[in-house]
Amino acid sequence: MAISMAFPPLHHVAAAVALAALSATGAQAQGVVNALCSTDAPWCEAAAKEFTRKTGIKVNQAHKGTGEIAAQLRAEANNPKTDIWWGGTGDPFLQAAEQGLLAEYRPAYLHDLHSWSVRQYAMSGHQVGGFYSSAIGFGYNTETLKKKKLPEPQCWSDVIKPAYKGEVEISHPASSGTAYTVIAGLVQLMGEDKAFDYLKALHKNTTTYTRSGQAQAPNVAKGEVGVGITFMFNFEKWKADKYPVKTQAPCEGTSYEVGGIALVKGARNMDNAKKYYDWLMSPEGQAVGAQVGSYQVPANKTFKMDPRIPTLDNVKLIKYDFEKYGKAAERRRLIDRWTKEVEPLPR
Ligand code: F6P
Repeated sequence: MAISMAFPPLHHVAAAVALAALSATGAQAQGVVNALCSTDAPWCEAAAKEFTRKTGIKVNQAHKGTGEIAAQLRAEANNPKTDIWWGGTGDPFLQAAEQGLLAEYRPAYLHDLHSWSVRQYAMSGHQVGGFYSSAIGFGYNTETLKKKKLPEPQCWSDVIKPAYKGEVEISHPASSGTAYTVIAGLVQLMGEDKAFDYLKALHKNTTTYTRSGQAQAPNVAKGEVGVGITFMFNFEKWKADKYPVKTQAPCEGTSYEVGGIALVKGARNMDNAKKYYDWLMSPEGQAVGAQVGSYQVPANKTFKMDPRIPTLDNVKLIKYDFEKYGKAAERRRLIDRWTKEVEPLPR
C-alpha cells in the first residue's frame, strides 16, 4: 500500500489545528468526565456505560486498588487529571481529604443516606461521601478444605493455626484498601503489638498478597486457595453460581468499611463530575452494584435493597475508629510497620 508522504500547505495545517482545538473544547463542553474507580471492575464499567447512555457524557475511567489511587492523586496534586474518585474503602479517601486533594461537596440528598454515610461526610468536612458498607471476614472453599482435612475456620485464632499453612490468601496493604481495613481492624481488636504478632503468624500461612482485595473470592471459588480474607460479600456471587464456597464472620469480631466517593480538588470537568457523582448516589446508580454481583449495603436508603445483599445483623462488628485510622500518618505508620516487620519474614 502506498503511503503519501506529501505535507499539506501550512494554512491547511493551521486550519486543522484550529479545528482540532475547537472540537476538543466542544467535546469537553458536551461532556467528558475523568474518573477513577476502586470497587469491582464490573460495577465500574456498568455504571460508566449507563451514565453515558443516559447523559451523553463520556466517562474516561480507570480501575485500581484504593491505596493505589490515593497515591496517584497525591502524585497528580499539582496538575489534577482526575475529576472524581468513587468506590473503594473509605480510609484512603479520608487520607486524601486530609492532604487537601479533594473538593468539598454537600449533596442536597444527605437525608436520603444512611447515618454511617452522613458521618463520613461530616468527618471529612464534606469531602468524602459514604458510598456503601460491608464487613471483613473469611470465604473458604469447602471442597478444598475437606480434601485437606481442614476444619472450616470460625475465628481469627483459627486461620493462624499451622494446619492452614499455604492455605490463606489476603491482599497487600500498600495497594489494597481491603488489607488496610483488616490490619487496622486487628489493631483495634487486639491492641497494636498483639495484632502485629498475629499478623506475623498469619504471614506464615499466607500464600500470596494480591494487589486488590477483589482477588480472593475468585481464587477461593476456583479452589486455587482454601481460605480468603476480604470483604465477605465478594463471595456471594460465587455461592449463587454454585461454587463450593461459604463465608464466616470471625467470632472475635471484625472490621468493616464505609466506602468512599469524592470530587477531586481542581477537577477540570467539575460540573460533569457532580452529575456523575449525583447519579452514582441515586437509587438508580446505587442499584447497579447488585445488578452485576457487588453486594455491599448501599448508602442510599430510599430504595429497596437487593435481597441478595448479605445482612450485617449477625456480624460482630468492632467500633471502627475511622477518624483515627483514616488519618494519613496513622495509615502510613501501620503500613510501614507491616512492610518492615511482617512482609520480609520467611514463610
Ligand atoms: O470488591 C469490592 C470491594 O471489596 C469494595 O467493597 C472495597 O471498597 C474495594 O473492593 C477495595 O478494593 P481494594 O482492596 O482493591 O482497595
